[in-house]
Amino acid sequence: MNDDKKFKPQIPYQTPKGVHDILPHDHEFHTFIKKVVRHRLRQAGFKRITTPVFEYTDVFERSIGGATDIVEKEMYTFEDKKGRSLTLRPENTAGVVRAYIQEGMQSLPQPVELYYIDPMFRYDRPQKGRYRQFWQFGFEMIGELDPALDAQAIFLANKINEDLGIEALFDIQLNTIGSLEDRKKYIQALKDYYYGKERSLCEHCVTRLEQNPLRLLDCKNEDCMILAELAPKMVDYLSKESKEYYDDVKEFLDEMEIKYTENPKLVRGLDYYTHTVFEFWDAKEGAQNAIGGGGRYDGLVEKLGGQDTPAVGYAAGMERIIAHMKREKIKVPSKDDIHVFVAQLGKEAKIKCLKLIDEMREAGLKTIGALGKGAMKQQLKLADKFNAPYTIIVGITEVREGTAIIRNMEKGSQEIVKFDQVIDEMIEKIGKKNLDKYSPGELVY
Ligand code: HAM
Repeated sequence: MNDDKKFKPQIPYQTPKGVHDILPHDHEFHTFIKKVVRHRLRQAGFKRITTPVFEYTDVFERSIGGATDIVEKEMYTFEDKKGRSLTLRPENTAGVVRAYIQEGMQSLPQPVELYYIDPMFRYDRPQKGRYRQFWQFGFEMIGELDPALDAQAIFLANKINEDLGIEALFDIQLNTIGSLEDRKKYIQALKDYYYGKERSLCEHCVTRLEQNPLRLLDCKNEDCMILAELAPKMVDYLSKESKEYYDDVKEFLDEMEIKYTENPKLVRGLDYYTHTVFEFWDAKEGAQNAIGGGGRYDGLVEKLGGQDTPAVGYAAGMERIIAHMKREKIKVPSKDDIHVFVAQLGKEAKIKCLKLIDEMREAGLKTIGALGKGAMKQQLKLADKFNAPYTIIVGITEVREGTAIIRNMEKGSQEIVKFDQVIDEMIEKIGKKNLDKYSPGELVY
């Protein structure tokens, strides 16, 4: 009911359940993570891609698999005005592969290496580290089959964690789920094992047994876990080639001194994987709070209508990374801190300061002016609140004498300088290397 007389909530509008604002302090983390990701991946030859926020639902259903939690329960699906079914992307591998095929990227030198930093949407049960809109960064290498690439994906993901200062907090869980043929044999073996034991399975696993028996292995229900312990192991159904492939991945990781834990039950929650799968688990909380995961998906390009093309990739959740960085008290550069506050009194001073503020900003000084505020005391209080290290004061006397006062806010000391020397003085104080110069032609981000 939305009867205005009766409906009087304290805060009239709030974000929908499971989504959140990214406030300025968190943006400092976002900016830092984006910088690290861009730097590391650009260095390795990756290029950025942005796919649309929504795709035809079929793209996700075919890629992720109809019997997965994501497709069954977590997609934001809606019809457009012409009745076409669209879905907000719950992940980005499907969209990137769709783009690879649609944009003819198979004619480029292979592998095509792409990365993204974008919001994803899942109708997940909101809880710590689990949101309905969340940010992922990720990368995909499409067009080449070699265990060195799988190892490279894990190496790069770990390198990014290292740059962010969090790599020691995670265990890399590693497994192989074999080729599509190996999987078929293994899935049959799993079905044979579970048939007749349905009464000991949770309700969810009973339905999954037909459609997606691999997921029974990582069910968190106690009885299901006991059964999973005794279930046939993938390793016994791997072909000789798949075993060799996995051994090579491990050898490369060992060579690169990447530590990992082999986990034969790791299957991942998306159907498109083949061979190598991996996740970065919180060393304390385990699978609950994985910050990232990935693996090889050799059948996906073909499944979405392209040629038979191998691929491997990884994606990480940025909110979870930020939570870890905060817990570890990792400081990120605060680019939003201002350099100088401008306080003025009287109309003439205001006119002079308007121009001064603009010129200071052009010079790279991050400047705030209290142009709407009246009393000087009030303006200085504001300067304090903004944590400005310096305040420039221009009153009636300064206008008359062609000067300005520079106040060091921490020390409380003041000096009088010629008005036309204010900018040079300020640059000297802030230091040239700290200026925030905006030059569109040479923007470094
Ligand atoms: P994923 O394991 O579904 O893989 O998601 C990757 C990461 O996204 C998770 O480890 C987690 O940090 C974060 N994440 C997932 N759901 C949520 C949520 N509801 N709230 C907050 N964070 C979340 C993929 O998405 C694959 N596309 C990875 C990949 C790329 N495989 C190959 N290439």
